[in-house]
Order: sequence, then structure tokens, then C-alpha cells
Amino acid sequence: RPTLSPVPPLPGLLTSVGFSLLAFLATIYLVPALGPTFVKANLKGRDLLKTYDTPIPESQGLVCASVYILCLILFIPFAFSDALFPPVDAGKPQDGISVLEFPHHQLSMYLSSILSILMATMLGFLDDVFDIRWRHKLPIPIVASIPLLMVYFAEQGNTSIAVPRPVRFILGNLINLGPLYYLYMSLLSTFTTNSINILAGLNGVEASQALIIAISVALNDVLYLPFPLNFHLPLHLLGNRAEIEFGGTWSAGMAYGSKELVERHLFSLYFMLPMVGVCAGFLYHNWYPARAFPGDTLCYFTGMAFAVVGIQGHFSKTLALFFAPQIFNFVLSCPQLFGLMPNPRHRVPRLDPRTNLLHPSHTPFPHPPSKLSTLVLHTLSLLGLTQLTLHPKSGMIMEATNLTILNALLVRLGPMREERLVRVVVAVQVAGSVVAFVIRYGLAGMVYDG
Ligand code: UD1
Ligand code: MG
Repeated sequence: RPTLSPVPPLPGLLTSVGFSLLAFLATIYLVPALGPTFVKANLKGRDLLKTYDTPIPESQGLVCASVYILCLILFIPFAFSDALFPPVDAGKPQDGISVLEFPHHQLSMYLSSILSILMATMLGFLDDVFDIRWRHKLPIPIVASIPLLMVYFAEQGNTSIAVPRPVRFILGNLINLGPLYYLYMSLLSTFTTNSINILAGLNGVEASQALIIAISVALNDVLYLPFPLNFHLPLHLLGNRAEIEFGGTWSAGMAYGSKELVERHLFSLYFMLPMVGVCAGFLYHNWYPARAFPGDTLCYFTGMAFAVVGIQGHFSKTLALFFAPQIFNFVLSCPQLFGLMPNPRHRVPRLDPRTNLLHPSHTPFPHPPSKLSTLVLHTLSLLGLTQLTLHPKSGMIMEATNLTILNALLVRLGPMREERLVRVVVAVQVAGSVVAFVIRYGLAGMVYDG
């Protein structure tokens, strides 16, 4: 069996749990305390799905991002405490070489991650203040991911993917994607930063997506840690299936329990635990009826943090599984994002003030839709994802419900109250994570072997 990491990673982990609790408490306290300051700085929004007009502090994701980044920075000495305070016998030279060397590569991983998250926070905040057009802000996360990709390269990060068993006789066991793999990783950061932002507009919906994804990633990380008493979680029982990242970047021999694997998942935990802390703290104020709005800042910095751990921890495909609802919402949104259908400033559902129920919101077509748009929209309508209003005589599409998962849920399940729809979205996200674990640790083993 592979050797386990000699030192159980508990001290760093416990400190990280402590910081996450602090992050939780700081967010709970600071969000309402700073609310009036945000409103005074004109960072406020109207809750579109309420009958009242009280200005709600907007962009308070900035508070979360500041607390989060501060925690990550204060935690640096603890993450490297082994190197700073080596055990008494660890640094003794063996054959003239010092055994203990400072883990520079890990430090560069850590620092480049913070740099990317900071850039995403800045982009998010600028977007809140200036409402940047989305085609202008799309390339920025690609630039923000360059430090990550460089560190990935410096570490001789793998760029091969394992080929599923049924097609191996054509393609061989591994395909090296080379530069394409880097392109994939930089697009991943663009996707994770924008995809939470376009599944938005209900109280609590952005923060709960981030919270559930952070918890899912953290649970996945815990599966790889060696615990005292050699207690292993069920992964151990799955034998060598655990050795391959879904899609197989680790098939080239990284054994379960190996030092690198433990370090990568520990690194990811250090980023995810405080994320759970700030998101949970923020959600307390952002839950229906919201007293604070996250703004694009929260969507961007959380999205970038997920891309960071997926890339640096080498589990970007597992991460993509946790984003299943966001992928669905993005694919469904494509006709609106890419001009096949008009895209209004807000696509949130419509409130009926008399009944307090949410209905799918509609967007009218100022011009007759093209043949392609008509085909796409009729297909989506057949799938029950949109509702079309047709011209009674010509049958031409006059309007369609906006193409988001929120409107699609209302089309399928009928009108409901805002707090109920948020719970449905939360349930979908949790169900998505459960399915992700089943695919990752159950099905992946059938198509990819260890
Ligand atoms: C994205 C969506 C947009 C959606 C908006 C809602 C796309 C391409 N863009 O735009 O369709 O309408 O998010 O956030 O899909 N708000 C509420 N209740 C909430 C949260 C936000 O009413 O619980 C409203 C407030 O007026 C707030 C505003 O949404 O001020 C914030 O919108 P913003 O994040 O700037 O919108 P985008 O991210 O550009
Ligand atoms: Mg937004």
C-alpha cells in the first residue's frame, strides 16, 4: 500500500477551522454594521421581487471577500508552520543534505491563488460600480487565471486526460491535450466566475450556490486526508478507483494517500473552509427577506476561488460536476447571451403583487425572430423549459419566457412564492452535488479504471 503522509495534517487544519469560524462571526457582524455605509456610497439596490422600496445595501460581497482574503493572508504562516517550526529531529542533515526544504512551490501556489482571487474581487466590484458590459468583462478572468496556470506549469502539471475504456482501442489510454488543457483551465475560471452571477436575482440564491459548492468541494477534499488512527473514509474501500481524478489526470501513478495528493486537498480545504464561513455568515442576512445583496463581487470572488482550487488541486473535472446546475443554466441562457433572443437587463421572474407569487418573466421580440431562433425556442418549449406566446394568425413567436433555470422551474412547477423557489434551487444544487459524488466515485470507475 502507498505510504501515508507521515504527519497527520491536523494542526494546520484545526487552525483553518478556527479561522473559518472567525470569518463566519466577522461576516455576521460586519454585513449589517457596514450596510448604512454602503447605502451612503450609493451601493444600494431595490429588491425587484418585493412590493416595498427600501434601499438594500448592494455589493456586500465586498465585505465577504475582504474577510475571506484577510483570513487567507493571516493563515499563511500556519499553512507553512512545519517549515517555520520544524520538528526537533527533522532538519538534521542526512548524507550532507538538509532534509527539510522550504516548500517554495506550495507558497507560490498559495500566493498566485490569492492574487487571482483579488483580481476577481476587483473585477466584481468594478462591475457593481460601473455595470461593465458582459462581453467586455468576459476575458478578464482569463487574464486573472494566468498566475495559476503558470504555477500549474512550473509544477509540471499534467495535461493528459485518460480515455474512457470503450474508445481506448482507437485513441489509446491517454491523450495529451497540451496547450488545449491550459485553454480549458482558463475558460473554467471564466465559467465559474460568471455562472453564479447569471443564476441570480432571488434572495439568497447566489450565496447559497457558493455555500453548497464550497461544502461539496470541502467534503471531497476530506475524503483524501489521512486521519489519525489511519481511519479512512469509504474511498479506501473503493480501492484504486480513488487514484484517478475523474477523466484520469492522476492515472499516471499518484496513489491514494500519497503526500502530494494529501497536500493538494489540504490546500483546497484551506481555501474552502473560510469560504463556507463567509458564505454562511452572509447568507444569514441575505436570506429571504434580504437585508443585504451580494452584488457581482460575491459571485466573482467565490467563482474564482472555486477555479483556483480546481486547478491547483488538479480536480477541475470533479469541480465541474459540482457546477451542474450552473452549466445547465448557462446552456439554457445561451440563446439570450448570444443574441438569438433579446436579453433584457434583468431576467428575474415577475412578481404578482396581488398574490405575492412569482411567475416566469417574458421578453417580447421587437422583430420577427430568425429561423434559427424559432427552431431553438420551439425545441426549448417542447422540453418544457420556456413558454412561447405565438401570434394567433401567423404563429410567429411574439414573446418567450426568459431562459434561466429560475423561469424554467416556474414554467414546469407553476407560480410559487420567492422563498419557496429559493428552497427549490437549493434542493436542486444539493441533489446535483449528490449526483456528482455518485458519478465521481461510482460511475467514473466503470468507464475509467485505476
Ligand atoms: C444578472 C442576470 C440578470 C438578473 C440579475 C439579478 C444574466 C445575463 N444577468 O445580471 O438577468 O436579473 O443578475 O441579480 O442572467 N436583485 C433582487 N433580488 C436579489 C438579488 C438581486 O432584486 O435577491 C436585484 C437588485 O435590484 C440588485 C440587482 O438585482 O440591485 C443586482 O443585479 P446585478 O447583479 O447587477 O445584475 P447582473 O449580474 O448584471
Ligand atoms: Mg450580479
